[in-house]
Amino acid sequence: MELNNLLVVKEEAIATVTINRPKALNALNLDTLLEMRDCFKDLAADRSIRVVIITGSGEKAFVAGADISFMQGLDPSAGKAFGKLGHEVLRTIENFPQPVIAAINGFALGGGCELALSCDIRMASSNAKFGQPEVNLGIIPGFGGTQRLPRIVGKGIANELIFSGNIIDAEEACRIGLVNRVFAPENLMIECRALALKIATRGPGAVRLCKEAVNNGMEMDLNRACVYEADLFAQCFSSADQKEGMSAFLEKRAPSFQDK
Ligand code: CAA
Repeated sequence: MELNNLLVVKEEAIATVTINRPKALNALNLDTLLEMRDCFKDLAADRSIRVVIITGSGEKAFVAGADISFMQGLDPSAGKAFGKLGHEVLRTIENFPQPVIAAINGFALGGGCELALSCDIRMASSNAKFGQPEVNLGIIPGFGGTQRLPRIVGKGIANELIFSGNIIDAEEACRIGLVNRVFAPENLMIECRALALKIATRGPGAVRLCKEAVNNGMEMDLNRACVYEADLFAQCFSSADQKEGMSAFLEKRAPSFQDK
């Protein structure tokens, strides 16, 4: 598929997806969402990719939200279709078989903050800004913000952000657990890439199962979640990579995982 709004670079088992509409601060319009959906489906089928990094083009924005010019004229049925597409894209990222890291390099507002929330790990540059300013526009967050933000930062803090539309800086986002770490802008991609490369050296099947265990287990009560984890743990022992990982440890050498 032709990509007009995304840049995708594959290098050493890492795919970097850059949302590339810098003139609109990388706002998510229909075409961008459709390209993201197809791009993540393609990447999921590429077994050589072990980690994806998502970032925004330019120095100012990760993603400044869903595209307001596109949404302005929507009626309820078109609004519903747009919201559903946003959910589909973010669920595709959330359920992507390998880890997805958000490298948040500037404004992450509205749909941009929601995009970051759908990623497995969030890293920010010190100039990043976060918020759900939808109430300023007479709408609610529509790409999962009312659901994922309280699950990640807790209900009280999420309510304050969502009801007020307040914008917070990267340090505050880190303090409330919205991002894991904050870096100088010039170091953000270097650090995200270093983490991605480290994850890429680990047993790929094990990393996939870790993601499944965390994501699916968090939706269950603890008893069911532990039974579920036990099943996934058992599954690991049918893999060649488990034999290789443990043999390598005992033989005091680095493992050579084959994703088998
Ligand atoms: N949609 C469409 N265009 C946008 C945009 C958006 N979300 N955010 C920025 N742009 C455009 C601006 O219209 C402007 O375009 P022009 O040059 O053609 O006028 C360009 O990007 C640059 O933006 P600004 O001139 O406004 O830049 P700034 O530095 O003065 O301000 C900003 C930056 C504070 C991020 C400001 O652009 C802003 O407030 N943007 C909107 C943020 C927002 O409300 N996001 C939520 C959208 S709703 C949503 O996402 C719903 C949902 O949950 C799915």
